[in-house]
Amino acid sequence: MTDSSFAQTDPANLTQEEAQAELRRLAAEIAEHDRRYHQEDAPTISDADYDALRRRNAEIEAKFPNLILEESPSNQVGAAPASGFGKITHRLPMLSLDNAFQDDDVRDFAGRVRRFLKFDPLQGALAMTAEPKIDGLSLSLRYEKGELIYAATRGDGTTGENVTENARTIDDIPVKLKGKVPDVVEVRGEVYMAHKDFQALNERMAARGGKVFANPRNAAAGSLRQLNSKITASRPLKYFAYAWGEMSELPEDTQFGMVKLLETWGFQINPLMKLCETVEELIEVYHDIEENRAQLDYDIDGVVYKVDRLDLQERLGYVSRSPRWAIAHKFPAEQAFTVLNDIEIQVGRTGALTPVAKLEPITVGGVVVSNATLHNEDYIKGIGQDGEPIREGKDLRVGDTVKIQRAGDVIPQIVDVDLDKRPKDAKPFVFPTECPACGSHAVREENEKTGRVDAVRRCTGGLICPAQATEKLKHFVSRNAFDIEGFGDKQVDAFYKDELVRTPAEIFTLEERDKQALTKLRNREGWGAVSAKNLFEAINARRRIDLHRFIFALGIRHVGEGNAKLLARAYGSWSVFYEAMQAAHDQAGEAWTDLNDIDGIGHIVAEALAEFFAEGHNRDQLDALLEQVTPLEAEKIDASGSPVAGKTVVFTGSLERMTRDEAKAMAERFGAKVSGSVSKKTDLVVAGPGAGSKLKKAEELEVEVISEDDWFDLVGL
Ligand code: IVH
Repeated sequence: MTDSSFAQTDPANLTQEEAQAELRRLAAEIAEHDRRYHQEDAPTISDADYDALRRRNAEIEAKFPNLILEESPSNQVGAAPASGFGKITHRLPMLSLDNAFQDDDVRDFAGRVRRFLKFDPLQGALAMTAEPKIDGLSLSLRYEKGELIYAATRGDGTTGENVTENARTIDDIPVKLKGKVPDVVEVRGEVYMAHKDFQALNERMAARGGKVFANPRNAAAGSLRQLNSKITASRPLKYFAYAWGEMSELPEDTQFGMVKLLETWGFQINPLMKLCETVEELIEVYHDIEENRAQLDYDIDGVVYKVDRLDLQERLGYVSRSPRWAIAHKFPAEQAFTVLNDIEIQVGRTGALTPVAKLEPITVGGVVVSNATLHNEDYIKGIGQDGEPIREGKDLRVGDTVKIQRAGDVIPQIVDVDLDKRPKDAKPFVFPTECPACGSHAVREENEKTGRVDAVRRCTGGLICPAQATEKLKHFVSRNAFDIEGFGDKQVDAFYKDELVRTPAEIFTLEERDKQALTKLRNREGWGAVSAKNLFEAINARRRIDLHRFIFALGIRHVGEGNAKLLARAYGSWSVFYEAMQAAHDQAGEAWTDLNDIDGIGHIVAEALAEFFAEGHNRDQLDALLEQVTPLEAEKIDASGSPVAGKTVVFTGSLERMTRDEAKAMAERFGAKVSGSVSKKTDLVVAGPGAGSKLKKAEELEVEVISEDDWFDLVGL
């Protein structure tokens, strides 16, 4: 295969002829890889290389839109052109929804909502809407003075892609709103493709010898994210409006009323939306919709319930990325049987040995599945976390016929094995006790405190294990961490192998070392002067980095993006954080207590942090990195100007105007940190009637104490 995953020539420097030739070659090459992957299940390149080919194709297309081929790969599947669209930061984030699977989960949800609001059954009905969950992709539309200003995809919820030109071609999306509308209106809803349109489109594509879409969702996504809006215009996309973002005024005070209003402004709304007074009514609507699902001309994957009163929605607020006032009641997962061809062991960045099922490819719910996670060795044996059996047919053996399940976006799971179909010679799987990457012992640690053996077997090779080291580096440069353009999995593997980059700090010394090197990067196969220069620029652009990205990039166990953000917000700067973590390493004393007091940081996370910073070699690597990189001060959450931003608040006594959960959520929304105990670090105590020892302590320490009413005045509610 020709290696075109590196940009040899900047697309801007290509002539028309060169661009045309390269686009033709890329189309043929990508089509061949698609065929090997989908039809033969025998891909000959890695996903990263494949993505690089597509990216190169999209970059050239962005520069030469007149040369886009009918059979262009970007016309074929849903994958996003990586850099073809501008970015738009949503004024209000685009949230996702929490899931319910059983009827009882919905009853629990309604109970939680009532408790949070202290909404007594005697106060009457807590009305909610029920409507289908459309299986498409969400799109935010901003209107100013009634005119469409932009359309943005959800992206990561904070930043999406600017697809305005494409959205303008969709009939259901008005470019001008009807009637009297607020100055600023942001409408949110789902772009989707109807079944009959999807079939017709696929027939058209197949007739031209092109690739077909796997399902209507992919077809909708692929069609919306075309770099050429003429192609989008030729695709039959539709749009249902069901929510809103920023609004200069809210003309209605209920969810139902607002959605009905969207209809008068010119949007399509889902005709199955119902207003319900009780949970049982919601569940009835769900089962009705589920029964009639096959008759609908579009895909849905559940029913969404939303608290109707907008003032209550406001009080309920959000937990991480989902509103407390809504939930998606999902339809049961789709299942299918296939054969387990092999079990492969992957080594992750923390040394965890993860078994992966290699399956005979099978279509489940419209998607071809050929891999499934097997979690750990107990899972293969059929033993769950609590020691209980997790399947009727217990252990999994290569050659078994297994039942796999796919629920929404969730990674496919093996949920059962058909023992009647087990080949006579199938042997129990023997999990390796040596790391397949470095040969070190792989062990299951015993938790000193609980005495329980960890479910995960880990390689003990640490930094000598190439799999751990490269996975750590891949995490370090990944999108939500350092996000270094042009430095992906493939480059990490190659640079590691050739000893060019073995630690994060070495990424940043690469350019300096390259100047002295005999073989320069630009002379390596697949590289040139331009691509080497681009890489150094991309690296240098990250020498100053957001604190939460820096913390996340370190790859500390249990410190994902969410926890990294909490830590960044709590400590504000790298120096404060680093000092505190080193002080907390003995897991005692004030720094340790403070760490555990951070809302959302549990004991396991605190322990993982303390252990990480107690390791000398981690600190050495960090210090080397800090010579190259400067983490920036953390941004305070959108609470600038809030008088309690950055303050540590303790609520005590019985509160009358809000529940404890609500108080905590409110304080956090205004940028404060809530603590459960009063100390020298406490800035403010909000005390209700009956406050006892905490109030006394506050008085002793001369911490400011205010009433619940004062609190409301202070935050301006
Ligand atoms: S409401 C704040 N309503 O589901 C709540 N979402 O899992 C915003 N979706 O990203 C979403 N149908 O793309 C809502 N009737 C519906 C929906 C719906 C589909 C999608 C949406 C969202 C995802 C969350």
